[in-house]
Amino acid sequence: MARSPHLSHLLLAALTLTGVLSGAAKGALADTGAADDPALREETRKTAVPLLPKVVQAMQEAVKEKGTVDAIPVCKEKAPQLLQELRQRTGWQIRRVSLRTRHPETGTPDVWEARQLAEFDRQAANGVKPETLEVGQIVDTADGRRVYRYMKALPVGEVCLSCHGALETFSDDLTAALRRDYPKDRATGYSVGQVRGALSVTRPLAAPLRTPGDAAH
Ligand code: HEC
Repeated sequence: MARSPHLSHLLLAALTLTGVLSGAAKGALADTGAADDPALREETRKTAVPLLPKVVQAMQEAVKEKGTVDAIPVCKEKAPQLLQELRQRTGWQIRRVSLRTRHPETGTPDVWEARQLAEFDRQAANGVKPETLEVGQIVDTADGRRVYRYMKALPVGEVCLSCHGALETFSDDLTAALRRDYPKDRATGYSVGQVRGALSVTRPLAAPLRTPGDAAH
């Protein structure tokens, strides 16, 4: 048949292309077989990210009005409280994570998060603006659930330095307050433009969004 070589050629091309694309996705996302979904990413971003400037603004106001030590509750209570409200509204898991935590009990990343944070650091060190760093991935968990995971970098801005900057710049009161509440604090010594950590969202996905057959349509 005259058409079959042509067809098999096309098929081969299609297979190669699929292979190349999934290979590229793997490279970019550094996760075997993982894929992003632009609609999910957009929806997650729109829902969760507007919270971030609110926390920064609350922080700026508190540091200015009350001084650094008395502003501690904003990062300690207000930020987790805003995250809690968002969790209740969405039913998603939402938290802040960091490779250098102040509060390891709540902020220690899991393996997937740690990998993304390392990638954010690498990119920021290469001159990528930290406020642009984000990642989204469909992930199958070890216990058989499918979830959508999203992370957005939290850049170190001026106001963050008053509590996450160089220890030598801290007042004795601040050093004492941090030592008392956070004996395992590793979240100092940052400078502007670095990545302090990330907002991390995990959304349950009811069923696989796509079967391999769908990709052909
Ligand atoms: C007034 C002091 C203060 C300022 C200013 C401040 N933080 Fe914090 N930050 C803290 C404290 C205290 C914690 C620990 C909170 C807790 O108990 O969970 C913390 C925790 C965090 C965490 C959670 C992960 C971890 O290390 O435990 C992130 C992320 C974070 N801060 C980012 C920022 C960013 C970004 C800024 C600037 C926009 C900022 N912080 C400014 C005091 C501060």
